[in-house]
Order: sequence, then structure tokens, then C-alpha cells
Amino acid sequence: MRIAMIGSGYVGLVSGACFADFGHDVICVDKDPAKIEALQAGRIPIFEPGLDALVGDNVRQGRLSFATELAPAVAGADAVFIAVGTPSRRGDGFADLSYVYAAAREIAGAIAGYTVVVTKSTVPVGTGDEVERIVRESAPEADFAVVSNPEFLREGAAIDDFKRPDRIVIGTEDARAVAVMNEVYRPLYLNAAPILVTGRRTAELTKYAANAFLATKITFINEIADLCEQVGANVQEVARGIGLDNRIGKKFLHAGPGYGGSCFPKDTLALVKTAQDHGAPMRIVETVVAVNDQRKRAMARKVITACGGSVRGKTIALLGLTFKPNTDDMRDAPSLSIVAGLQDAGARVRAYDPEGMDQARPLLNDVAYAQDAYDCAEGADALVIVTEWNAFRALDFARLRKVMSEPVLVDLRNVYSRSVGERHGFRYTSIGTA
Ligand code: UDX
Repeated sequence: MRIAMIGSGYVGLVSGACFADFGHDVICVDKDPAKIEALQAGRIPIFEPGLDALVGDNVRQGRLSFATELAPAVAGADAVFIAVGTPSRRGDGFADLSYVYAAAREIAGAIAGYTVVVTKSTVPVGTGDEVERIVRESAPEADFAVVSNPEFLREGAAIDDFKRPDRIVIGTEDARAVAVMNEVYRPLYLNAAPILVTGRRTAELTKYAANAFLATKITFINEIADLCEQVGANVQEVARGIGLDNRIGKKFLHAGPGYGGSCFPKDTLALVKTAQDHGAPMRIVETVVAVNDQRKRAMARKVITACGGSVRGKTIALLGLTFKPNTDDMRDAPSLSIVAGLQDAGARVRAYDPEGMDQARPLLNDVAYAQDAYDCAEGADALVIVTEWNAFRALDFARLRKVMSEPVLVDLRNVYSRSVGERHGFRYTSIGTA
């Protein structure tokens, strides 16, 4: 299959490289010449484990290339994937679809022969209809179908998720398009990944429903964690106790400082808006959004309490800034609210993150960046684990105690336990234990 990937951001690049690895001919297109130049020179603009090697390998094999020109890539393609950004629109929280529609218009002008236009970006219900209308309007003679094929990749595990998906959702009623999509994903048959063929609107909604459900699951366990702290229970044991029930499932029951990232905050908000617009409000998801926002802010207060009620003039060391490990992504990271809350209360903030400091610098003011966890802890009145990077899972507590002013450990990811913290002489605070 010949595939054109429009948009070489996170989703486009990972999907393009994986399709090439399946043996397809892939051209990744992006309007940003600097990005394309970097990719052509073998530099990957994002941090994603394994992506560097996968891109390099497929470029060498001649299956993957990069271009700024959309038309030639589309003209030669069996399938054109739209993987451009859909940020939250300022003001109303709706997904901003201007990049998707602009891509559709450009694609329309270049289609040659039967072409499947696939929306890979997360787009609200009905976007596929609008893409179809735009292409039809701009190119009335074009032979094409518009398919929704949402991605369910997790940052940091994206390649594995792509190659071993739980399911593939293909939203179309066009039989020829189903045949093309089956061919595109044929290499996955070996892994027996279920392929669900649904209506286009159903596929679009499935993506939002999946993300909103996962965000709800996390928020549920986070609230149980707060209750655990009040009643003297342990949230990790509660999570295990409920998670072993197959109807609930073990995953996404890890209590923490609130979810962040490029998907959950944006997609939950977009779903809330769509639901309100259609007179079918999703009150559960509305509450999830509000509870999660409040939670991120509450984490600074948790640190302040652990420091005896005030952090004025104190130095607080944060380990981890990204919204989760194995990514350099800072979008909607809990660290942003935590830093602001601590600084508002008069603290000095030092921070260390293995990959995220370059992305963090423009977003955070007056933060001193450290070389590693121990450098970060130097002279600190409290050490806060914000992101559970592996590098923070086996800290040398004796060394930390020596360099810190006060032995206060706030573990917002439950990497350690009270007994471990206290054994090393720390005043230990975690999530969801009394
Ligand atoms: C998510 C979805 O998992 C993925 O299917 C979708 O395509 C994009 O959004 P991602 O944002 O990369 O992926 O990360 P994920 O691992 O799902 O974590 C999201 C957030 O939830 C992080 O802030 C993480 O720390 C938090 N989280 C996750 C928890 O707090 N507890 C958990 O148990 C799981």
C-alpha cells in the first residue's frame, strides 16, 4: 500500500514509521520545513522510546520518506491519513478543527484514482461528514471515501501500542474503503488484533468514550485515595482489591496527582462540549474534568501541609516534571499547577526531569534546574516525586538525607511506602494512605 501521512507530529510520525515497518510505502508530510529537514537529516523532533531506530531503519530501507509538499504524496497514495493537531480552542474548549479542514481542502485538490481519506486525529463526531463535504465540494469528480480510524497510542509506549493494539476501529460504510483498510492493517492479523468495522460517527465517538472512561477510572481512584487518607485505608490495596474483579480490571487504577497529557484533558473537555451541544450532557465526565483540575491544584497544598503548613522561604525539590515518564511532554502536566501553587505560597522551586526540562523552561518561571535527583535535593526542605521515572525508583536515601535541609518526602506517585520512607528517617507523605 502507498500511504500519505499528513502531519508529522506525534501521531503522524509514530503511525507513519510503524506503517512503513509493516512494509508499506509511506510519505510523512508536514508544512513545517524545519521539522521535515530535521527528519530528513535523521533527527527526531520528539522523545519516544524506539522511534529513532524505527524511523532510521525504514528510511534506509526506502519505505519511509518526508516531504513538505502534500500534492505529490496524495496523488500517489491508496490511503491518505490526516494526523494534524486538534488543540482545544481558546475560550470554549471545543476541538479546533481548522488544521483538519485545511488538510481536507488540500487533499481534495490532489486526489488521483480511488483514495481513502482517513481521519487519524481525534476529531468530534461528525467531522468525517464535514471532511467528506469539503473534499466533494472542492473536487466533485474525485473517487474517494472518508474513514475514521482513531488511534489509542500511549506516549512512551506508542510503538508497542501500535504494533500490538487491543483493537483497531474502522468507521466507514464504504466496502472498497474497508478492503483498503484491511490491507493497511493486514500485518497485524498475526497478532490477532480484533478489527471493528463500524459507522463513521460510531468510530469517532468510540475514541472519546475510551479516553473519557479511562480519565473517569483514574479520577475515581484518586477520590478513593482522598477518602483512604481520611479513614485510615490504603488506596493501593483497595485498587488491587477491586482491580482483580475482571469486570473492573487492574489497569488505570493508580492514584496520583491527577491526569495530564495531550489527550485526556483535551478530549474529556471536547466530549463534554459535544454532549452539551446535542442535549445529552455527560455529567459524569463534566465532574471528572472539574475534579481533576482541582486535584492538580490541591497537590501544592499537600506539599505545604507536609512541610508543616508553610513553605515561605523554603526550597522545594521536584523530581519529574513531565505528565508521565518516558516522554518529554509537558502538556497539562500536574507539575505546572504544583510549581505555581508552591511559588504563590512563597517557596523556591528546584526541579529535575530526565527528558522534560527543555520543554518545561518556557512554561515555568523562576525554577532552578538540576543535573540529577541529588543535585536537585541539595539544601531542600522537601523532596516531591511528581513523575514516576525509573530513575527515581531506587533513590539512595542516605545520600539524600545528607544533602537535604529537612527529611521530608512527598511521594505523589506512591513509588515508595511509608515503611520505606520512615526506615530511612524521612517524614513521608503519599497518596491515599493515612
Ligand atoms: C492516553 C490514552 O491512554 C491513549 O489510549 C490515547 O490514545 C491518548 O491518551 P497518554 O496520554 O499517552 O495516553 O498517557 P496515559 O498512559 O494514558 O496516561 C495519561 C495520564 O493519566 C497521565 O497523566 C498518567 O500519569 C495518568 N494516569 C494513568 C494515572 O494517574 N493513573 C493511572 O492509573 C494511569
